[in-house]
Amino acid sequence: MKRIGMLTSGGDCQALNAAMRGVVKTLDHSKEKVEIYGFLDGYKGLIYSKFQMLTGRDFSGILTKGGTILGTSRTPFKTIQDPDENGLNKVDAMKQNYYKLQLDCLVILGGNGTHKTANLLRQQGLNIVTLPKTIDNDLWGTDMTFGFQSAVNIATDAIDCIHTTASSHGRVFIVEVMGHKVGWLTLNAGMAGGADIILLPEIPYDIDKVVDKIEERDKRGSRFTIIAVAEGAISKEDAALSKKEYKKKLEKRALSSVSYELAAEIQKKTGREVRVTVPGHMQRGGSPCPYDRVFASRLGAEAGRLILDNQYGFMVGYKNREIVKVPLEDVAGKLKMVEPDSTIVQEAKLLGISFGD
Ligand code: F6P
Repeated sequence: MKRIGMLTSGGDCQALNAAMRGVVKTLDHSKEKVEIYGFLDGYKGLIYSKFQMLTGRDFSGILTKGGTILGTSRTPFKTIQDPDENGLNKVDAMKQNYYKLQLDCLVILGGNGTHKTANLLRQQGLNIVTLPKTIDNDLWGTDMTFGFQSAVNIATDAIDCIHTTASSHGRVFIVEVMGHKVGWLTLNAGMAGGADIILLPEIPYDIDKVVDKIEERDKRGSRFTIIAVAEGAISKEDAALSKKEYKKKLEKRALSSVSYELAAEIQKKTGREVRVTVPGHMQRGGSPCPYDRVFASRLGAEAGRLILDNQYGFMVGYKNREIVKVPLEDVAGKLKMVEPDSTIVQEAKLLGISFGD
């Protein structure tokens, strides 16, 4: 008999349900008897003992469903060791609930912050298996996270739609893409959508280079320019500031994001009409794409296998086209960024895409 706790934490994404279904199906198909405890709304459910007992049936028919049947929330790692508003020690509470329910392990689906807490729980002696979710694809130790390809599809669709209206009006259009502090989503959606300029957090931009590219296109008779901007994109000027100075500057930012700032600057320098589109949380929503359904199911199956083999302390990841297990201590606290001199960036440049550098 195995007692498994399961939770989804952090921002949601597509294929969370597919991944959980993969774990449960694999366990259900083994000879082992299994009890599943689904903690609600992320680590909060584990802290405050909010859970539902689930069976294989609860995971049936959810392969194609977006969101998470368990609910999720953000529980920042920065404050996880601070007492809550009633003085409760959150880490102790999670341990107590784990032991009270006599769990054999916890399956945790999440991104960067989630993995830091998962690793802390591992250090505290709990058996943990994690699965890499995030549209940002920024988790260290895995070439791919589920949710990413679905989000690339949505962001690409947004750029495709903007293309037709931009060409009709002869405008400069900025599409702001999610991704927090990394540019994977913008880079891929930008290339897939045929963006002319792609601005990423990892490659600080020079506004004059951005303007040069727009003017070069004008001279060539292209009536419009599409700029894919990562929400975390940063100018060379701002990148030269200390973290503290940049934070202060952001606090004082009059416009709501980097895209609107860019739009204002481009308008001023070129006199061109500039429009901004922000698809926002749409990028995390809806049904997972076929790639993510297969990928998340495979990761879930391998997580199920690890549990049946009593192998804990790992994230199930993907490296060089193989599903692999990566020690949690190696994953926690590290980001996988776009390398400015990576082959994909070089190839994009060969295609004539400007990164504003
Ligand atoms: O990590 C996923 C993500 O969608 C990022 O791309 C984005 O910066 C962030 O979450 C938005 O967070 P929230 O849903 O809390 O606004």
